[in-house]
Amino acid sequence: PIRVAILISGRGSNMQALAETVAAEDLPVDICTVLSNRADAAGLDWARAHGLHADVLAHREFGSRDAFDAALRARLDALAPDYILLAGFMRVLGADLVRHFEGRIINIHPSLLPVFPGLHTHEQALSQGVQWHGCTVHFVTPELDHGPIIAQGAIPVLDGDTPDTLAARLLPVEHRVYAQVLRWLAQGRVQLLADGRVSVAGAAHRAWAG
Ligand code: GAR
Repeated sequence: PIRVAILISGRGSNMQALAETVAAEDLPVDICTVLSNRADAAGLDWARAHGLHADVLAHREFGSRDAFDAALRARLDALAPDYILLAGFMRVLGADLVRHFEGRIINIHPSLLPVFPGLHTHEQALSQGVQWHGCTVHFVTPELDHGPIIAQGAIPVLDGDTPDTLAARLLPVEHRVYAQVLRWLAQGRVQLLADGRVSVAGAAHRAWAG
């Protein structure tokens, strides 16, 4: 099996979707840890209740980004994960850490990258008047929310949408897309190409509409 570490900061619904997919489909995936930078992340309780190794590395206890990153690196190195899946992990990882795990850190971001990197993506989508919104699963590079795209999911923007309704309608699409990426990873089908794009062997498409 592949070893994956899942990093969260809060609710953990994407982590839950990943873990449920592994269990329901008996995927060859060993979730070696669910790690949160916040002790109060609700996802930790779910993870523990479902028999997963769940742990906290509180960024507030470190004096600097570099110190936190060094501790995170040590924690992850000890677990030797093949992949580190960011699932609502709200800390920016420094370039040294990203380079150390190059090609092994994957994130889900709630927009159709490369538009709307950063925070408040649903607000940004509404204020720009885009008619399609979505999520992106991508490899993490030192530039925030800019790495090679593995898969995307899209939803239409509806009349009357608010940031909350958009986020709520996108969430199940996030879960589906991230679960599909994990299946591909477990099957060894995801490849990072030299030109900075991604190829997934045998995947006819890597786009979904919800
Ligand atoms: C998800 O919508 C995820 O795409 C987003 O946070 C939410 C976490 O929900 N991630 C980011 O904004 C990353 N910058 P969850 O904890 O229920 O998975």
